[in-house]
Amino acid sequence: MGVEYSIKSGDPVRQRAACIVVGVFERRRLSTAAAALDKAGNGFISKLLRRGDLEGKVGQTLMLPDAPSVRAERVLLVGCGRERDLDERAFRKIVTKAAAALDQAGAGEAAAYLPELPVRGRDLPWRVYAATETTDNALYRFTQFKSNPDTPRRPLRQMTWMVSRRRDLHGCEPALELGRATGAGAALARDLANTPPNVCTPDHLAEEAERLAERHPAITARSLDRREMEELGMHALLAVSRGTEQPPRLIVMEYRGADSKEPPAALVGKGVTFDSGGISLKPAASMDEMKYDMCGAASVFGALLACSEARLPVNVIGVVPAVENMPGGRATRPGDIVTTMAGKKVEILNTDAEGRMILADALTYTERFNPAVVIDIATLTGACIVALGHHRHGLMGNQPSLVRDLLQAGRQACDPAWELPLGDEYDEQLKSPFADFANIGGGSAGTITAGCFLQRFAGKMRWAHLDIAGTAWKSGEQKGATGRPVPLLTRFLANRAKWDK
Ligand code: BES
Ligand code: MN
Ligand code: ZN
Repeated sequence: MGVEYSIKSGDPVRQRAACIVVGVFERRRLSTAAAALDKAGNGFISKLLRRGDLEGKVGQTLMLPDAPSVRAERVLLVGCGRERDLDERAFRKIVTKAAAALDQAGAGEAAAYLPELPVRGRDLPWRVYAATETTDNALYRFTQFKSNPDTPRRPLRQMTWMVSRRRDLHGCEPALELGRATGAGAALARDLANTPPNVCTPDHLAEEAERLAERHPAITARSLDRREMEELGMHALLAVSRGTEQPPRLIVMEYRGADSKEPPAALVGKGVTFDSGGISLKPAASMDEMKYDMCGAASVFGALLACSEARLPVNVIGVVPAVENMPGGRATRPGDIVTTMAGKKVEILNTDAEGRMILADALTYTERFNPAVVIDIATLTGACIVALGHHRHGLMGNQPSLVRDLLQAGRQACDPAWELPLGDEYDEQLKSPFADFANIGGGSAGTITAGCFLQRFAGKMRWAHLDIAGTAWKSGEQKGATGRPVPLLTRFLANRAKWDK
């Protein structure tokens, strides 16, 4: 299943494909490949444009069966907007619309001259990477729980990215591979996240980790159960799990792509498989979406899969604290005080601030791997949606160069983050009259006070925190997981490995 990608050079007029895809700009300007077809076919494209069949706005498509003097069975014209306005977002929209049109057309296979489009500030390898990842993203479907899924009869199965000159192929293979790997990683993250919470339990995530390890020799997986966590003193994590029948798990995955002496990067993903809020119960509206409270965990799975698919020469540890947050008779109460694995005493003033509790112990546990860097990923605060909406992840950290590298990876992967500050003035909001500190910060800046809480458990590690509450899934008509921030994480790890440059 899925699309197979390859890259080739060749003249558009001579391609024997089920469909060839070329771009058309606004104001009847043709891309290089479109101009070549137009010339060979006595101006058939120019004629269409003069007649007004296609304006060339970004993402418009027009499928032409039996184009004149062309060996391909069909030609798909895709609008690319004004040439000078062609940026990353426009490019992704062009690719998305082209992929959707191809998937519906029944062609099964296509040769697309889209990586040739001149995207402002982006080179050919980047365009190959982005076109691949974007196509996978566009064609993703989650049909596991549909009795009669409405999938096309002949979906797109093979995509060949075309460049006209052979010497341009140089350097595109690693980009293609990174695009494929990122697409596969994001799809896994989306599958796990979309799975309903009666199926996707902490035990289910632990089994999925084992499955991942079985299929990928460079990945190993194991998990700790409640008893082992009790022995380690993980009472912050265990407090969250008290009100549910579902046993908690601490999942540990390792990807080994480099020498064992190379210190790993650690990814720690919040895996709350359902967040009812606990005794501090959430309101009923949209509570179903709290199945997505394990999207941080899902992105760790996705990033590890991407590393393995691309064979990135890095070592990565994935740590996933997996719990369900429910209001049972033994559930943690507001006012309870627990001792974390790090020995700090926390007053739980709101049982709905559970993500930071499980991440606290998971971060302490992660110290034993002596990671070069640790990044936690969590759907942590509704306040992050207020601050940044659904476009950028919230990013905080204790090391400017790590924050800078993550911001850059986000821009390269079209999966952007934005830095928020940490500071003593915010940290002080966590004070508690009874314990060392509370699990919520009084007052405003909820995303930052949550970051401050986590920072207290990062210890001496170089640490960063991604709040993905606004970016990990979409609500409304197109409800579903986005697979973010798998592209950012994968690119960050690829950059660390100095892999494609
Ligand atoms: N998982 C939620 C955060 C969340 C809410 C993400 C809505 C996306 C959409 C988290 O566990 C939570 O409940 N946070 C509380 C913190 C508060 C009690 C300090 C929140 O944001 O309201
Ligand atoms: Mn919560
Ligand atoms: Zn939560």
